[in-house]
Amino acid sequence: MQHSTLEERKLHFFECMEQYKAKIVICGGTGCVANGALDIVAEFDRVIAEKGLKATVALQKEEADFMLTKSGCQGFCQMGPLVTLYPQGTFYVKVKVSDVERIVEETLLNGRIISDLLIHDDETNEPLEDTAHIPFYAKQERTTLRLCGLIDAQDIDEYIAHDGYKMARKAVLEMSDQEVCQEIKDSGLRGRGGGGFSTGLKWDLTRVQP
Ligand code: FES
Repeated sequence: MQHSTLEERKLHFFECMEQYKAKIVICGGTGCVANGALDIVAEFDRVIAEKGLKATVALQKEEADFMLTKSGCQGFCQMGPLVTLYPQGTFYVKVKVSDVERIVEETLLNGRIISDLLIHDDETNEPLEDTAHIPFYAKQERTTLRLCGLIDAQDIDEYIAHDGYKMARKAVLEMSDQEVCQEIKDSGLRGRGGGGFSTGLKWDLTRVQP
């Protein structure tokens, strides 16, 4: 199906998401992959199929029970492989291939949390079910990487569903070249080559060249 606008594609994405019982996100960063994350993805697919259910690995208008996807590195490599189950955000760490069967059976199909796969509070030993309660994440304020762990950054539909290209479209269709440069200047964005030169100023200098 063709979707002519970003809004239509966004709507289509969330319509598709509504049909899934859960979204399974496995960290696909280098550290987690080195520790078997791709085998875990394959095992989820196998176990779910074995139970007569279906996982889709990409956004398609197909009937499926679960969406199975990979994220980029979530920054917690020492605790990987990481598996997060949405919509609850249940965050399992140091997951092994042999854990997948019980994650599907216990958590995905019966809504029970598996305590030994959770992080536990250092002082109270209370299990911490999601990243909002885990000190490593709770102390961070992420901006550019705000959606890391929630979306597959290589999936264009997820990108668009979370307003990807929205500002690029505005810059191309609604702003003059001068306004774009001013916006970048105002943002304070600077180069990372060592000099920290203002990106907006650099663009503006280029813009006025004959
Ligand atoms: S590679 Fe998974 S948290 Fe870094």
